[in-house]
Amino acid sequence: MNKPRILMARAVFPEVIARLGQHFEVETNRSDEPFSKAELARRLQDKVGAFTTGGDRIDDETMAGAPLLKICANMAVGYNNFDVPAMTARRVLGTNTPDVLTETTADFGFALLMATARRMAESEHFLRAGKWNRWSYDMFAGSDVHGSTLGILGMGRIGQGIARRGAHGFGMNVIYHNRSRLTPDLEAQCKARYVTKDELLATADHLVLVLPYSASSHHAIGAAELAKMKPTATLVNIARGGIVDDAALAAALRARTIAAAGLDVFEGEPKVHPDLLTVPNVVLTPHIASATVPTRLAMANLAADNLIGFLVHGKPLNPLNPE
Ligand code: DGY
Repeated sequence: MNKPRILMARAVFPEVIARLGQHFEVETNRSDEPFSKAELARRLQDKVGAFTTGGDRIDDETMAGAPLLKICANMAVGYNNFDVPAMTARRVLGTNTPDVLTETTADFGFALLMATARRMAESEHFLRAGKWNRWSYDMFAGSDVHGSTLGILGMGRIGQGIARRGAHGFGMNVIYHNRSRLTPDLEAQCKARYVTKDELLATADHLVLVLPYSASSHHAIGAAELAKMKPTATLVNIARGGIVDDAALAAALRARTIAAAGLDVFEGEPKVHPDLLTVPNVVLTPHIASATVPTRLAMANLAADNLIGFLVHGKPLNPLNPE
């Protein structure tokens, strides 16, 4: 009997491809570049399922010629590359990979916060450029992390992981803003206090963005919000580009109306706003918050489990739009 056909829009981990091959006829993307939208649409035409990553846009156009398509399993917890209402209308299930990346991503968020507050990238570039010729009392003096006020915008699993690290590891005073308040139990575990967005902006010494991207979070941090932050504050974005207005941020960094920023995600990535590349007080990383070998393997396996769970056993693990 012919196996059902699926598309791996990115070929990740040979062992995951082999696992999927036990159940499906797997067509893989042989290149390390994402498919163009037209190519993705063309390849989906005869597939029942797709293994996707954040760069693969699934919307009405990509699904229009794919009458057999039943599931797209995203190897990411974020799924703003999916047009979920369009998928629901076409009865295509979307799945994501929560939980398996929470702690790894929170580790990275914290690392980026520390690198930003303590000016690690700037000082490393300075040293590599051969400019270090004497000790100086204020050379790359940054801001303290321990004992400072940590603000978190978006208090899902990853936000809570960052809060725990800050409160329990670094004695930080943690405040957060989120669409909904945590339960008193979770607030106690994270030692976090709920505040309004304005209080968060005005009070945080370090503000970490961990909210999902949607039309309502587009440019949640723009010129007006940046103007409300302390001139000594740092901003860290490990959520999604588009949540921050990168041009406004570059202007604020250049004018030093905030002290520094650490960015792992960018609007229109992998392109980076040119102004961000020319300001010194920003640490830039290429969307690697979940990138450890064990975590990326766990994410790939979970996406594969969702395909197998749904197409073979009728039960996906992480449905985003169940019927
Ligand atoms: C996610 O899981 O959403 C990450 O951004 C991808 O690494």
